Amino acid sequence: MSLFRKKSLDALVAQAADSEHGLKRTLGAGSLIALGIGAIIGAGLFVRTAAAAGEHAGPAVTISFMVAALGCAFAGLCYAEFASMIPIAGSAYTYAYTTMGELVAWVIGWALVLEYALGAATVSISWSEYLNKLVGGSIPFEWCHSPFERVLDTAGVMHHGIINIPALIILLALSLLLIRGTAESATVNTIIVIIKVTIVLVFIAIGWSFVNPGNHHPYVIPADAPPAQMRDGTLYSYTSFFRHGWGGILSGAGIVFFAFIGFDAVSTAAQEAKNPTKDMPVGILGSLVICTILYVLFSWVLTGVAPYTDFVKAGKEASVAYAIETYMHGYHWLSILVTIAILAGFSSVILVMLLGQSRVFYTMATDGLLPKVFCALHPKFRTPYKSNMLLFVFVGLFAGFVPESVAGNLTSIGTLFAFILVSIGVVILRGSDPNRPRPFKTPLVPVVPILGALVCAAMIVGLDSATQITALIWMVIGLIIYFGYSKNNSRLKA
Ligand code: ALA
Repeated sequence: MSLFRKKSLDALVAQAADSEHGLKRTLGAGSLIALGIGAIIGAGLFVRTAAAAGEHAGPAVTISFMVAALGCAFAGLCYAEFASMIPIAGSAYTYAYTTMGELVAWVIGWALVLEYALGAATVSISWSEYLNKLVGGSIPFEWCHSPFERVLDTAGVMHHGIINIPALIILLALSLLLIRGTAESATVNTIIVIIKVTIVLVFIAIGWSFVNPGNHHPYVIPADAPPAQMRDGTLYSYTSFFRHGWGGILSGAGIVFFAFIGFDAVSTAAQEAKNPTKDMPVGILGSLVICTILYVLFSWVLTGVAPYTDFVKAGKEASVAYAIETYMHGYHWLSILVTIAILAGFSSVILVMLLGQSRVFYTMATDGLLPKVFCALHPKFRTPYKSNMLLFVFVGLFAGFVPESVAGNLTSIGTLFAFILVSIGVVILRGSDPNRPRPFKTPLVPVVPILGALVCAAMIVGLDSATQITALIWMVIGLIIYFGYSKNNSRLKA
């Protein structure tokens, strides 16, 4: 049945071994952990924590982080098995092509567009928020927000967004950088990681003494919490199931899940790991553990410094800088440093996401599932420049015209969906190809993959229905393209 035709695992492994020629095995566990943290800490922590706390989980956003981490850990163990078995770029899409066949691979590839392309859009919107904060809010609201956002200013005048220009500028700059082939060197990445982690630690350390215990009571939003005021003057009610109590915590988990996206990027470096058997799982799980600890502490301090209801209105954008300036008097310098570090940190996340997206499209185009334009290389720079330019237009449409929360939630849902399919893939391949060497084995199969799929599915359920419906429409469009184009152009077509 052609829908389930599979790429041969032998051919892939041979391809991986072959492409090994140019790649040196230089990365140890420490560098892999740094790579993971470089891709992980970003807008999820510095923007979405506040959104999840303000609108769904309150101070219990710390528990949301733990739920999200649990789903990631289970899925991460499954990623580690695949990464050590099929050490080749293309990530979840490639794994699916060999295990569950072409149609599922296409579906994952299509879901990964949500992860990488919309992830890049989300972080660029957050970048714009922090830039505006750095320049004292001098960019007019209209030119740094989507048409779906509005704000009531202090004079009672309503402003509507038109287009998010700073987000487009950072995307364009980084797309051009990618076309030039400026690879993020391990050194630059390590420097950015050190800056990001230092900022998080400094905020936790200084903010600790500004925690107001009153802000942590009640810890979980009660069903009868009074409504909070939004920035357009209307009221935000907490009565519905996913806006208080455990429902709110689960919904918060789906939102802050975004903060963990990127740890799977470690799996794409499998070919460069010195000792992939041992170092891949350590790299993937090590970066997850470190980030989870930092996130829980960070969100505990943030919701202790500012009441969660603030984040419904003023603090949603550039929330860390807001909390410092409003509640930590005398620390204006910290707010500026945090903002600069965040801008640098966001840039590296956007770069990795754009790179990941063009790599997935590149692999899909070489497989014939997408037009050749996505694998055309620049004559001089040897980068998929046409793909990078088309992606800029696509990502730019979201960055310029869609609110951060919409793009961010779509990113989360796309990634959660890919995680579910990767978890199922491990179980399938154990059954269909039990004797293939597995340098790293997911423990307790099928329990761990099943739990991974369940926790991720629960987070999808906790996301808002507009996100779920949009993701469904996105998948239907994907299927139309598959049956209209990809199926007939696949290189596996007999
Ligand atoms: N995890 C990345 C971030 O939070 C995508 O920005």
